[in-house]
Amino acid sequence: MSLLVGLFDSGLGGLTVLRQLIQRYPHSPCLYLGDTARVPYGTRTPEDIRAIAAEVVHWLREQGVGVLVMACNTSNALALDVAVAEAGVPVLGLIDSVAPVLGSDHVGVLATPATASSGAYRRAIHASRPTATVTEVACPGFVPLIEAGHRTSPELREVALAYIAPLLAAGVDTVVLGCTHYPMLRPLLTELLPAHITLVDPAEATVERLGPLLGSLGEAPEVERRSEAIEPIGRRTRLCVTGCPEAFAAGARSWLGHQPVVEHVALRS
Ligand code: SIN
Repeated sequence: MSLLVGLFDSGLGGLTVLRQLIQRYPHSPCLYLGDTARVPYGTRTPEDIRAIAAEVVHWLREQGVGVLVMACNTSNALALDVAVAEAGVPVLGLIDSVAPVLGSDHVGVLATPATASSGAYRRAIHASRPTATVTEVACPGFVPLIEAGHRTSPELREVALAYIAPLLAAGVDTVVLGCTHYPMLRPLLTELLPAHITLVDPAEATVERLGPLLGSLGEAPEVERRSEAIEPIGRRTRLCVTGCPEAFAAGARSWLGHQPVVEHVALRS
């Protein structure tokens, strides 16, 4: 019996983590919660984000998750301690996973307002590279536009140009996609940023740590492989949302390559 891996995000963004996880460990059962009734998290107060994290992680624990992956940078930045205390199982974070593997002293971070103002990325990067210059840019417009289906629209392009301007001015050579929604903008950002700038998705380093963690829990993943294709969601993965399942399924379609089955759940009974 494999351990159930729990993941949560405010909405579609955590699917960028889930997708990598399924590609790497296709036999691990996963439970994903998209808290779409409360998206976005990134413009909420720290108190709100911490209270929401406690509630969401409590629900995931009740469902029997054996490992928790924070698939939301905002919760990771503001409420990792809350998640660790509430989960009662090992918790993997995006920020602590990616910070030690950044090979640059000129780092930019695109993030939600809550993540950027928390300074969590700056602290984590400085813990590994004290001399690094870290330019954090708050991008309040991205999550609502991504949830509304924008990927390359003129409106999205305009806000993206405004958000990358401070990174270009600072001379960064590495840009961390510090919100799990942002890998969905990789084609647009790749087009807008100069070719020498590397885009880093923290999900890669996080998923990389999951195998050894499962191994330490006596649960070595049955097969590890790298594959672009993912099997239809539903076979081993349960997708739940607190908002409208149909809207989430439609939004998830372009990222997963198929329209998944999505359940509505109420976190409080
Ligand atoms: C949000 O929904 O505002 C946050 C998602 C994230 O930070 O990864």
